[in-house]
Amino acid sequence: MRKPHKMTRKRASYAQTYIINQQTTMDHTSSGQFIKRRLDDLAASGSGEYIWRPSFSKDYMKAAELLKDWLADEGFRVYVDPVGNVFGRIDGESDRVALFGSHLDTVKDGGKYDGAAGIVTALTAISETVRRVGRPRKSIEVVALVEEEGSRFLSSYTGSKAITGKLSFSDLDEKDSEGISIMDALREAGLEGWKEEAFAGAARSDIDSFVELHIEQGPVLENKGLNIGVVTSIVGLCSYYVTIKGKQNHAGTTPMSMRLDPVAAASEFIVGMTEYTRMVSDSAVFTVGGIRAYPGISNVIADSVRLELDFRDGVGGALDKIRAELRRQAESLEARGFEVIVDIRCDEDPVSLDPDIVGIIDDSVRECGLKYMRMNSGAGHDSQIFADMVPTGMIFIPSHDGISHSPLEYTSEEDLARGEMVLEKVIEKLAY
Ligand code: GLV
Ligand code: MN
Ligand code: MN
Repeated sequence: MRKPHKMTRKRASYAQTYIINQQTTMDHTSSGQFIKRRLDDLAASGSGEYIWRPSFSKDYMKAAELLKDWLADEGFRVYVDPVGNVFGRIDGESDRVALFGSHLDTVKDGGKYDGAAGIVTALTAISETVRRVGRPRKSIEVVALVEEEGSRFLSSYTGSKAITGKLSFSDLDEKDSEGISIMDALREAGLEGWKEEAFAGAARSDIDSFVELHIEQGPVLENKGLNIGVVTSIVGLCSYYVTIKGKQNHAGTTPMSMRLDPVAAASEFIVGMTEYTRMVSDSAVFTVGGIRAYPGISNVIADSVRLELDFRDGVGGALDKIRAELRRQAESLEARGFEVIVDIRCDEDPVSLDPDIVGIIDDSVRECGLKYMRMNSGAGHDSQIFADMVPTGMIFIPSHDGISHSPLEYTSEEDLARGEMVLEKVIEKLAY
């Protein structure tokens, strides 16, 4: 049974909204160690053999409680919105909010850093900045967003869509693989969002900016020997369930020429879409990450196959062409007698991030004397949901060996500390 590390570092807490205590500010070596230890604690708070915090699950709520304790300890005013986003707030002179943070959920068998690194780094950077500089002009909030990954509910971005008013109450009817809806999961977790009136309270109009620090999840920064990626755009991301229905029958007695086998059809579809994507764009990607055949035994030609797929491309890319090709291939299977049901769970166009915030991050990195490049994000992020609603920016820190969505995900304490240092500068520029 894994136990969370015992926190040895004694932190002064703010009394009411903040107390500036110069003695408690950290040097950057300790801030890297401190962030790393908290990421280890969050990972160790789960009950399973591997890390998986599906939104609203017991492990997820436990991690949220740990985070709330840390926030309260550091003097943030802590609150949870109706859909489960956890916030920590430092009141400034104005009610307008500079928001920082990332997502708390993880993929199945994921790592310690994806999402969590952005939350813990933001909470550390805000505490340190307030200790150093004092009361901010704008209010500053850190947020731990719910269900970015889609590892429980494929539509993804539930928390950021609720905050930006892009989630409708009927979206809560979506079910996970066990048939539990978001609405039931909210109720079960003791959150209020399953009631329509309370749900409406998640949408915000007081946010002036959103900045998300995240691990790069790719190899570019490390390979180029750079410290920071300043993100200028995020890929468009489509996640679909595609169900191909054939005709269930006996595997031994049905001649090859007389069967309607959805598994064979699904294979053609996967190869066809993969080849098309390769041909149409150098940057687009197409992945079938999940396949289930029903009933799923060797001596039965399956009734149906459900594919869980994902395709992406950047600004100016081939997303529309891939969407059209998918429809064309579905129609061609239907012409052969299959039924094809395309269930679009997530369909986000690529976005460019705010040029002013990108400039502020550039300046902050330069002031820290760090090496950086501007880059596109191939991963999806809550920032793409915020981007057309509030000025939004993203800071990437290196991922060792470019590995992510894996237990081998790793970012060094030094890189966490560098990200924290940049974030402090950005906080000063946006909130003071
Ligand atoms: C989210 O991490 C995604 O890019 O799938
Ligand atoms: Mn992430
Ligand atoms: Mn992820």
